[in-house]
Amino acid sequence: MRKNVLITIDGPAASGKGKISSYISKKWKLKHLDSGILYRALAFRLLKNDINLESDNDIKKSLKFINKISFRKYKQLRNENISKAASKIAIYQSVRNFINKIQQNHVKENIKSNGFVVDGRDIGSKVFKNADLKLYIEVNEQNRAKRRYKQLIDTGEKSIYPKILKEIKLRDYKDRNRKYSPLVIPNDAFVINNNGSFSDTIEQINKLIKDL
Ligand code: CDP
Repeated sequence: MRKNVLITIDGPAASGKGKISSYISKKWKLKHLDSGILYRALAFRLLKNDINLESDNDIKKSLKFINKISFRKYKQLRNENISKAASKIAIYQSVRNFINKIQQNHVKENIKSNGFVVDGRDIGSKVFKNADLKLYIEVNEQNRAKRRYKQLIDTGEKSIYPKILKEIKLRDYKDRNRKYSPLVIPNDAFVINNNGSFSDTIEQINKLIKDL
């Protein structure tokens, strides 16, 4: 693998992008940027400030007063309320432009010293169109709901499987049908099937990275 490569990973909710990205980050010594956490952190901040998430205008106004979003993966950002709020605000172009700029600046400032793996919904299709390798992770809805259910239970959250499945379907629908930057498979992406074991998945991916 060359130095300072940029790898993008897109895919639907709970498809394992986070786990795959942190594996790649450790194995290939790349920095990991989780774009979902930025949407979550922004949603958390807007909710805390009592901003109406249905109002594009109110959100736009409040973005003017926010100059920094933390990249830290606080546990409270992963609960289902914040998941819903994050996908709600992700429909607005103002929000997407705001978060895209944060990501692009962060990578630009650091790519000389480190390569990156960036995961999300529109990373290969929109944010980093010139990435060195684009992956799209595919997993069926039931497996994703099972994995998310287990993840929530393991971290001590209350969780009900049918509810999680319903929420995942709803989030998929929203992510795939929004006007700005919907979730799509980038033309030049490799589709990775992550329904099987984690070792099968990373075997497919490591082969691609080795050739970069
Ligand atoms: O971990 P999970 O796949 O459930 O979600 P996430 O990656 O943390 O993203 C939370 C929400 O932010 C998603 O449902 C998307 O609506 C939105 N998002 C987005 O629109 N674009 C991205 N690049 C990343 C997240």
